[in-house]
Amino acid sequence: MLRRLHHEQPESFAFTPANRAWAEAQMRKYPEGRQASAVIPLLWRAQEQEGWLSRPAIEHVADMLGMPHIRALEVATFYFMFQLQPVGSVAHVQICGTLSCMICGAEDLVAVCKEKIAPRAHELSADGKFSWEEVECLGACGNAPMAQIGKDYYEDLTAARLAEIIEELRGGKVPVPGPQNGRYAAEPKSGLTSLTEYAAGRAEYNASVERAVVWQDTVKRIDGTEAPSGKARPAKAAEAKPAAKPAAAKAEAKPAAGKQPKVLKAARKGGADDLKRIKGVGPKLEALLHSMGYFHFDQVAAWTEEEVAWVDENLEGFKGRVSRDNWVEQAKELAEGKKG
Ligand code: FES
Repeated sequence: MLRRLHHEQPESFAFTPANRAWAEAQMRKYPEGRQASAVIPLLWRAQEQEGWLSRPAIEHVADMLGMPHIRALEVATFYFMFQLQPVGSVAHVQICGTLSCMICGAEDLVAVCKEKIAPRAHELSADGKFSWEEVECLGACGNAPMAQIGKDYYEDLTAARLAEIIEELRGGKVPVPGPQNGRYAAEPKSGLTSLTEYAAGRAEYNASVERAVVWQDTVKRIDGTEAPSGKARPAKAAEAKPAAKPAAAKAEAKPAAGKQPKVLKAARKGGADDLKRIKGVGPKLEALLHSMGYFHFDQVAAWTEEEVAWVDENLEGFKGRVSRDNWVEQAKELAEGKKG
């Protein structure tokens, strides 16, 4: 496939202030005179910001790195992961068309893209919200057929489910990624045959899906105000320039909410309760709760709605767990000794 720059190009490109700071930090990782080594991360960041790489973006990166433009153009045009034409303002859908996926129905998924997005790959849909392409194996063959949409994988797809996902995205929702047929991860379709003891207390989603649900950046354009690990909420969203194309509505930051419940400096005499007995609380979450000053079932049981909202918002990496798993009711039962 020939990879050419798009025939229509914007006048200019600039990183958002936060993305520029991030890019400069990448450049400092390399010895003086070797800044060109940062070309791929910087190009990738430009693409994460705009959705695709325009000529001004590629040249801007080259200028930052002190490279001749042609060197950065060589990199951008060589790697297929770089989009050289505008992509959908909501999502670019990448259908895996390699062996496992092809055997399991990738052609049906491509047909959905042709019908719902555009007849040809890399064309924008009529409303400008979507584009699509067929790509080589994305390494999720055990969950074939699959598609990468934005940053996440949607696996075990059927044509009908992919059509629904596209419509949900079009409506501003971001469907939960991962297996779409009820599988947890890549276990046999008929259920686990080994390690079954680990299934009982596992989290609602597998680790990849969990991250996607917490970070909410599946189809979000990255402006650099996100925390490096993606764990914290953007601190100064107002500083950043808006991306050229709107991100999905779901990606908007929520205002801080609620009121902090009372904390203890340490567990009472007799030691902390085993908070892991609350369904959905594992060792990491228990440690986090301890670090926040919560050690006992009766503390959790007493949280008001406002307080639940505060804790939900401040459980870094586990936002929303308190209400999702109804901790307060569970803790009430545990505090009263009703729960086994
Ligand atoms: S063949 Fe599709 S993910 Fe590997």
